[in-house]
Amino acid sequence: MQHIRIVAEVEEYQHFNELALDEKQLVHAAQKVAVAAYAPYSGFFVGAAILLNDGTVVSGSNQENVAFPSGICAERTAMFWAGANYPGKAIVKMAIYAQSEDFIVETPVYPCGSCRQVMSEYERIGGQAIRIIMVAATGKTHAVNGLINILPVAFDADNLKRHK
Ligand code: THU
Repeated sequence: MQHIRIVAEVEEYQHFNELALDEKQLVHAAQKVAVAAYAPYSGFFVGAAILLNDGTVVSGSNQENVAFPSGICAERTAMFWAGANYPGKAIVKMAIYAQSEDFIVETPVYPCGSCRQVMSEYERIGGQAIRIIMVAATGKTHAVNGLINILPVAFDADNLKRHK
């Protein structure tokens, strides 16, 4: 038996204003789209903005449904929009922002497990690590370079190889 050590690295910023200009702009896009989230059931408003490798920015918000599990997170709304409208373009960065009048959002909101799984696939097909910037309503920010930091040992296409 041997131990395999997996190390995650997270950057922490007191405020997203400390980020580079293109990343601040991405956060602003996530903030803008979060306001229009359809979240009547949770009251938790999330926005995600994605920078593609051709410079395009796409964004999305969480879209809820009275049949609760039918709703979808902001991150997947944005990723699926990007995948549908810009096929073949790699995701370079994603900013995630959350705000709520009902809940305290003092710490950055990390993507849920389902969104991490979807990001993992887009990272793989994009061929480059996705930088993920997570911003709390207070401005407090965490950032990671690559899914490896938030979804190590993922289930991926290597696990679905057929016998020839
Ligand atoms: N939500 C997101 O959109 N992204 C996240 O990273 C966490 C959760 C949404 C799903 C649901 O509409 C609401 O926030 C409460 O969970």
